[in-house]
Amino acid sequence: MHKPKLQIALDTYDLPSALAPLQKAAANIDVIECGTILCLAEGMHAVKIIRSLFPEKTILADVRIAEAGSLISKMAFDAGATWVSVVSGATMTTVEAVMKEATKRGGEVQIELIDGWTWEQAKQWRALGVPQVITHRSRDAEVKGELTWSQKDFDEIRKLNDLGFKVTVTGGVVPADILLFAGVPVYVFIAGRGIYAAADPALAAKTFQDAIGKTFG
Ligand code: 5RP
Repeated sequence: MHKPKLQIALDTYDLPSALAPLQKAAANIDVIECGTILCLAEGMHAVKIIRSLFPEKTILADVRIAEAGSLISKMAFDAGATWVSVVSGATMTTVEAVMKEATKRGGEVQIELIDGWTWEQAKQWRALGVPQVITHRSRDAEVKGELTWSQKDFDEIRKLNDLGFKVTVTGGVVPADILLFAGVPVYVFIAGRGIYAAADPALAAKTFQDAIGKTFG
């Protein structure tokens, strides 16, 4: 099975707070996420700066497009993003507009699966050529105490993979969680607070990579 990538989610309120842990962890990071919080706080300037510092890395602008797909994705790709995110509640017209922009730029689109998405939508996203989805335990679920990943999550990931999606897993992921995903086709694990808020972000990223290697190596 393909070895999953590690993505750092930079959900900080300003760029310096994102860059400090990123510089330390970068050697063990495959994908850099300019998180929704950072994009809202700093705008596409954050994506531009991170692109200039890491010209070779895959960068996700987690802009969670719900409308104005063409304009927003264009802003993100112009700033240097490789991937952009779209919420599952967006209309197919919006998804199609983002796909069109991404195809022109050689970028990729991720649909962020929010409660209420349907398999019928998933088939339509595939028909439009969307390559990636993000499945996550939301912070709201975490606050409600839904702390663990279940067989239901693993079955859903397998089914999404069978439909042809590359599947990203996120939401409070810690290294010990990764062992639970043995045999599950995960494309990317995202860690936000687990790396950027760690006392030693370099060690935290290495610990995640070691867990990925042990589980999928
Ligand atoms: C939530 C996000 C977060 O960036 C992502 O889930 C990582 O957060 P953390 O590891 O801190 O829970 O996009 O949808």
